[in-house]
Amino acid sequence: MANVEWDPDLYVGQIRDKIHDFDELQQQVAAATDGADVRDALELGIGTGETARRVLARYPHARLTAVDASEAMLTRARAAFPHAELLHRALEEQLPPGPFDVVYSTLAIHHLDAAAKRDLFGRIASVLRPGGRFVLGDVIVPDDPEDAVIDVSDEIDIPDRLDDQLDWLREGGFQPQTRWLRGDLAVVAADL
Ligand SMILES: C[S@@+](CC[C@H](N)C(=O)[O-])C[C@H]1O[C@@H](n2cnc3c(N)ncnc32)[C@H](O)[C@@H]1O
Repeated sequence: MANVEWDPDLYVGQIRDKIHDFDELQQQVAAATDGADVRDALELGIGTGETARRVLARYPHARLTAVDASEAMLTRARAAFPHAELLHRALEEQLPPGPFDVVYSTLAIHHLDAAAKRDLFGRIASVLRPGGRFVLGDVIVPDDPEDAVIDVSDEIDIPDRLDDQLDWLREGGFQPQTRWLRGDLAVVAADL
């Protein structure tokens, strides 16, 4: 498992420096859940809860379950979302069983290699309700190398091409649509 230990006190400042469209990405992920009937949501790699805050603002009565491999980030998220079920678990491990109406993830799945992403997409499908949605917002390898503006680290960042990830989502039973694309960031809404 490739993971970097962020300091939750410094995370938002550091990630905004690294990803200039960070807030727009977050907004686009939350907006890509629109139209889903969100009562039970699962977040993969919740971090300090930047996406969760925006999603729960849209669905204040939703029950949130989330996983993250960093206990430090989870401690921060637990303080922000005391009613959520937040689990110290890697994305490569078993997902909470659900079923969920929506599964979403921002800037976490690019830490998995291609085989692990493909495997994860299939496992996400198995914890969604029929008709459920998976929203992925993440760093990708863009078609034009000039669009690769984010300074990725060879050790911990393993982005893949968007068209490959759309294929793996289709293999998992999803109908994926690209909702937002800017340089080397993308948001995909994938319905079962
Ligand atoms: C860049 S942060 C993104 C956090 C949050 N989703 C956001 O958008 O602000 C990546 C998060 O994914 C978690 N993470 C990275 N690799 C992981 C893995 N293999 N399993 C579970 N969590 C992982 C990290 O601990 C971190 O909290």
